[in-house]
Amino acid sequence: MTVSPQPFRTVIEPFRIHAVEPLRMVTPGHRRRAITDAGYNVFNLRAEDVLIDLLTDSGTGAMSRDQWAAIQHGDESYAGSPSWYLFRDAVTELFPFRHIIPTHQGRAAEKILFSVLGGPGKFVPNNTHFDTTRANVESTRAEAVDLVIAEGRDPRHRHPFKGNLDVAALEALVKRVGAENIPVVMVTVTNNSGGGQPVSLANLREVRQVCTRYGLPLFLDACRFAENAWFIREREEGQAGRDVADIVRDMASLADGMTMSAKKDPLANIGGWLACNDDDLAEACRSVLILTEGFPTYGGLAGRDLEAIAQGLHEAVSHEYLRYRIRSTAYLGEALDRLGIPVILPIGGHAVYIDAGSFLPHIPPLEYPGQALAVALYEAGGVRSSEIGSVMFGRRPDGTEQPASMELVRLAIPRRTYTQSHIDYVIEVCERARADAAQLRGLKIVYEPRQLRHFTARFEPLG
Ligand code: F0G
Repeated sequence: MTVSPQPFRTVIEPFRIHAVEPLRMVTPGHRRRAITDAGYNVFNLRAEDVLIDLLTDSGTGAMSRDQWAAIQHGDESYAGSPSWYLFRDAVTELFPFRHIIPTHQGRAAEKILFSVLGGPGKFVPNNTHFDTTRANVESTRAEAVDLVIAEGRDPRHRHPFKGNLDVAALEALVKRVGAENIPVVMVTVTNNSGGGQPVSLANLREVRQVCTRYGLPLFLDACRFAENAWFIREREEGQAGRDVADIVRDMASLADGMTMSAKKDPLANIGGWLACNDDDLAEACRSVLILTEGFPTYGGLAGRDLEAIAQGLHEAVSHEYLRYRIRSTAYLGEALDRLGIPVILPIGGHAVYIDAGSFLPHIPPLEYPGQALAVALYEAGGVRSSEIGSVMFGRRPDGTEQPASMELVRLAIPRRTYTQSHIDYVIEVCERARADAAQLRGLKIVYEPRQLRHFTARFEPLG
């Protein structure tokens, strides 16, 4: 028999299951009570009442056998633990910055960075700030400015790098507010709030040129660096066939520093870091670190966490893993698109984003179509998603409320956690929500905190 060299159509999960966690099946009546008790906010649900949890891809992935083994190597020495050196070397192999500052998660790195660099009268440009990044900028009374390219705000535009930063807009901002008022330029890879869309190497180079011209430091918010690098390999001219780790090093070489959540692409359940080349900045950040996180060789982490992250970083740049990861997210997105459910195209790396504004055109933005759809997906099938729209971004620092630029519902895919049949079930649940779409009603907010309201706000249905 001759064996055909043709690859198979099915891209399988490149692992088999080693330990299982039971899922709890609950009745529609139970779900209705649970979501009412939760004030129609899926963040307030008990995870046990959720069947398929697509709330986030953050810290919810499955660790590998080798990561669990690495945890046993964790050395809990307060200072200079071997786990720290292993972690530092794994980080600098991909991101060769001079200073690596471990934190308990990404927002701690942001908090430290902006408490040093932010302040009233300052402006921080980004392709799109993630919610905690924006909040950490704004809590210093600096202004967070989103400068993603116009195609990145159009859910149906099939630009291959919809996360790119609008370089002309960046330059215009520098001229308007003055380089001295821009302490750092951020680029988020992939652009989470804009649909998990990648940023090209060419765009990073152009941003770098502007930063160099005006003497501005460039930092990556690099949570999903490996997925971004895979898209570069797949889509950018001249990048096909390259080693993803080399592409990651190219991305890093264009920046002066980074913030990171190890709960995403590094495949850990907790962790993060801040990195930079500037000695003075590193010293100022370490001083805050010691006050708020811990000693510089462990930051906010246990030695065992540092080990899990180091091993996760090796696995994160595996081509076999990334091919499966990106393909399995596209599998869900393409199925929804075929059903006529409006999704952001092309499909992003870690999540599928339903355009709730078009899905529920009868619900105006400030009656929160994204929230209404997230509630409907939970009620219909126990699927937990999250709103990325006017609930998340509608409340401005001056207290006014304005619609967000898009009303999205994100179905975030935890890494290596769900199988294809789980995803087939999610597709069916979305189909059922679509059948009921005309009956869905908007919501009003009955409680909200002053900042980051989406996490704890409570709602009541309208009508
Ligand atoms: N930056 C981006 C782009 C993120 O997506 C996140 C977290 C952070 C920073 C903060 O990192 O959670 O470790 O403090 N995103 C999660 C999400 C929570 O669901 O998208 P963290």
